[in-house]
Amino acid sequence: MPSTINWTQVHTRPVLMIPGPTELPFPVMQAMNQPPAIQYDRSFDEGVLEPTTLGLRDVFQTRNEVLVMPGSGRTALEAGAVSVIEPGDRVLVVGAGVFGLMMREIMSRVGADATEFPIEWGARLDVERLAREAERVRPKAITLVHNETSTGTTYPAAEVAKIARSVDALVMLDTVSSIAGLDVRTDEWGVDLNMTGSQKCLAAPLGMALVSVSPRAWDVMERRKKKAQSFAYDLLRWRTNWVPVSRGGKVPDGTPRSQPISIPTHLTSALQVAVRLILEEGIANRARRHALAGDALRAGVAAMGLTMFPDPTIASNTVSCIRTPTGIEPAAVVARMREQYGILIGTGLDRIRASTLRIGTMGITASPHYVLPTLSALELALRDVGYKCEPGAGVAAAQKVFANGAA
Ligand SMILES: Cc1ncc(COP(=O)(O)O)c(C=O)c1O
Repeated sequence: MPSTINWTQVHTRPVLMIPGPTELPFPVMQAMNQPPAIQYDRSFDEGVLEPTTLGLRDVFQTRNEVLVMPGSGRTALEAGAVSVIEPGDRVLVVGAGVFGLMMREIMSRVGADATEFPIEWGARLDVERLAREAERVRPKAITLVHNETSTGTTYPAAEVAKIARSVDALVMLDTVSSIAGLDVRTDEWGVDLNMTGSQKCLAAPLGMALVSVSPRAWDVMERRKKKAQSFAYDLLRWRTNWVPVSRGGKVPDGTPRSQPISIPTHLTSALQVAVRLILEEGIANRARRHALAGDALRAGVAAMGLTMFPDPTIASNTVSCIRTPTGIEPAAVVARMREQYGILIGTGLDRIRASTLRIGTMGITASPHYVLPTLSALELALRDVGYKCEPGAGVAAAQKVFANGAA
C-alpha cells in the first residue's frame, strides 16, 4: 500500500516537468522583480527590447526580424496565418497530432482553403508522398509542427521546407516546443514564418509570442488584396511601424518607432535574461544537452518496462510521450506524482489522453538535476498505483546515459 507520509507537505509547488510551461532559471525570475517600466520609453527599447530582439535572431539562426509580441504560441501562429493568408488561399497543413490540427483550425478561421496532409499519430512523415501532395495542391503555404508536443515527435522541417520551396509555397513552422531545445535553422532551411512562444525551451515565462518573418513573407503581405482582419496582429503593421529598414522593415534605422502593441515590460526583461543565458550556453551545446537528457529519460523509461508512444526514430528530445502499462490510468499516475512526490508531469492529449503520459525536458529541466528525480518519482508512483517494476532500474539506466554522455 502507498506510504502514509505525505512527502509534498513541505513543498509549496510542484516541479514542472510538463511539456511547458517549464521551470525558470533563477536570474530569469529575478528579472521580473522590478517596478513598472514605461513600454514606449526609449530606455526600455534600447536597453531591453532591442538587445532581446537581436539575441533572438541568433537563437532563431536567422538574419530576419524576430517580432516579440504579447501572447502565447497560439498568438504567434494566428498572427502568421492572418497576415499572409487571404480567404480562399490554398494551404497544405501537415497534421500529426493535436497541434497540427490546431493549425488547420486557425487556417480555416482565416478563410484558407486548407487541405490536411494527415500523418498517423506517432508515425514518420512520408516525404515523397508529401512532395506529390504539394505538387497536386500547389498551396500558398505549407504548415508544419516541428516538434509535435502531443505525441512527442520531431518532424524533418528541413525536408518539408525544401518541398514547400519547390512549389513556391511559404514555409510556416510551429517551433513552440523546439526552439532553443532542438536545432532550428530558420534561414538555412528557408523558414518564412517561424512561430513560437516563450514558455518552453526558451525557459522564459509564459506570455510572449515570437515570429520571425522572411523577405518572401513580407512580399506576400505587401501583395494582399485586402488588409488582414486583425489590427494588433497584422504583421504588416509591425513592418511599417516597428521594424527597421536594415532588418526588412520600413522604419529608417535610428529614427523613432512606435509599438504596434504595447509590449509587456516585465516579460521582456525576463526574456532578455533567458536569451542571454541561451547564447552564453551556445545553441549547439544546448541542443546537445537536450539530446542527452531526452536519451537518458527514454533509457530510464525503457528500463522500467515501459514503451514510448512514437516511432523511436522520431522521438523528441524535448517531450517524451510514454505509453502507460495496461490497466494503469495516466491521470492516476500524474495525480500521485504531484500529490505524493511533488513533480508534475502531463497526461497525453485528446485521443491518447487515457493511454499516455508526457514529460518535458526543456530549458533547465533537460538535466540530471531534474530528469533523475522525475524518473525516481515515476517509479514510485507507478508502484503506488499497482505497476510492478524493479525499484531504481529507471534511474540507474538514465544515470548511465548521463555518465557516458558526460565522459
Ligand atoms: C507544438 C505546439 N504548438 C502550439 C502550442 C500552443 O501554444 P500556447 O499554449 O503557448 O498558446 C503548443 C502548446 O503546447 C505546442 O506545444
